Amino acid sequence: MSLKRNILDLRKRKQEVQLGGGEKAIEKQVAMGKKTARERIMSILDEDSFHEYDLFVEHTARDFDMDKKVLHGDGVIIGTGTIYNQPVCIYAQDFTVAGGSLGLMHARKITKIMDHALKMRVPLIGINDSGGARIQEGVNSLAGYGEIFYRNTKASGVIPQISVILGPCAGGAVYSPALTDFVFVVENISKMFITGPSVIKTVLGEEISMEELGGARVHSEITGNAHFFAESEDQCFDQIKSLISFIPWNNTQKARKFPPQEPTSSLNVEEIVPSDPRRPYDIRDIIRAVSDSSEFLEIMENFARNIVIGFGRIKGETVGFVANQPKYLAGVLDCDSSDKAARFIRYCDSFNIPIVTLEDMPGYLPGVDQEHAGVIRHGAKLLYAYSEATVPKITVILRKAYGGGYIAMNSRHLGADFVFAWPTAEIAVMGPEGAANIVFRKEIAEAENPDEVRKQKIEEYKEKFANPFVAAAKGYIDEVIEPAETRARLIHSLSLSDNKVDARPAKKHGIPPF
Ligand code: HXC
Repeated sequence: MSLKRNILDLRKRKQEVQLGGGEKAIEKQVAMGKKTARERIMSILDEDSFHEYDLFVEHTARDFDMDKKVLHGDGVIIGTGTIYNQPVCIYAQDFTVAGGSLGLMHARKITKIMDHALKMRVPLIGINDSGGARIQEGVNSLAGYGEIFYRNTKASGVIPQISVILGPCAGGAVYSPALTDFVFVVENISKMFITGPSVIKTVLGEEISMEELGGARVHSEITGNAHFFAESEDQCFDQIKSLISFIPWNNTQKARKFPPQEPTSSLNVEEIVPSDPRRPYDIRDIIRAVSDSSEFLEIMENFARNIVIGFGRIKGETVGFVANQPKYLAGVLDCDSSDKAARFIRYCDSFNIPIVTLEDMPGYLPGVDQEHAGVIRHGAKLLYAYSEATVPKITVILRKAYGGGYIAMNSRHLGADFVFAWPTAEIAVMGPEGAANIVFRKEIAEAENPDEVRKQKIEEYKEKFANPFVAAAKGYIDEVIEPAETRARLIHSLSLSDNKVDARPAKKHGIPPF
């Protein structure tokens, strides 16, 4: 064969294999409003940057007539490419080939690209669209999943791992995403569950649709399994690129620095927070008012909304914001919000991202439900995560900082590097009303005019304790600042922290509360 014929033959083979499950299966995929696996990769990566590996890999299964079946690429596309001209590794399961189910060779392709990503210290993006373990390949499929989970765990905290759920993901197909850093879902397309509706009906007799069981909204709002929710695949790909712009390529680097920009928000920080401490406001307005270009990438926007987490930039440098949200449940801490914030803090710490904490909350949520849901161990995660983190940690107390919440929200006592308070801050064991009712209960009860005495005692308490000056007098906060000075203080603190060293005793790893 001449070289020219060889090349033509190669092109023909490539073309055939690149069709995956064939035109009919692709039509079915498109009719469901889904892009093909290949289109998805191209939509995420820089133009013409994709290099595919293992295109000609075939399955090796022989049982259940599998020896008569050709599964192009064995149902998964793997390779490398760039985003913003920086290298990444990527794989996309192809639902048109045996439902993207995972057999031995399919798993080997995925573990090959995972190993590559870890060795080269570049982010790994996995696009999941799979019926789970390939039933015909039995234990080989299960082994394949185990090998993936092992690598997910090994790479955790070393390279960013991003999972995109773009189809039904059942069984093993959801555990790998759960081990990664960020999970993206798309309305009507993503489904995640361990056992699907038919198994649930058989075992428990319960009827539920796939969407109600594990649709994108369920995982964004109820379970907390998803970190980003999009209405379309294109919106999802934009979100991925936005996220990638904020994070470093591996745990030895810092995030890329951008040219510093002034905030563009028309809101003045002083106008955002109402002077009445009981009136809510949106903490995201404060985040935008102190961030470059007022840009804020919120994570887990619809889960545990009483706490807000996400990335912004201050003077060009990525920071992770953790902020109580007075708009929901007065920003109270509970099981879910503690989990949400703690995991994010650990992410920032692993990837050298300074943490800015904005505090305004009345403490941990009381109640039987919370106690029985394990608020002790969930709440402890937050204490652990802040105490463990050695990246620069800055706290600004805006209004309420009561009780255990005061300590948990990156207080000086958990190792904050800089603690600022606005003059409106109230740092106390509990709110004035509750405190006055307990401390002065007898006096109030015995008074001729209890209501008036209660009011008077509340005022007395407020004056004495519900302010930032008692804590300032003890050095627990560094500076009481005017709200308008907040961004300048953050900039200064961050620039001072560039070479921060916080040595800890050597250990294999800690044992955080679960
Ligand atoms: C082999 C599979 C498959 C699987 C789907 N297919 N899942 N083949 N093994 N696990 C094949 C179908 O046979 C079909 O092939 C094609 O993919 C498309 O599937 P459909 O059922 O036609 O598509 P749809 O109606 O959209 O339903 C998708 C689905 C459903 C919800 C994913 O296929 C399904 O429930 N699959 C089984 C899910 C499951 O229970 N997986 C095992 C989990 S156990 P043809 O040839 O007809 O086109 C597991 C263990 C790991 O993963 C645990 C680790 C901890």
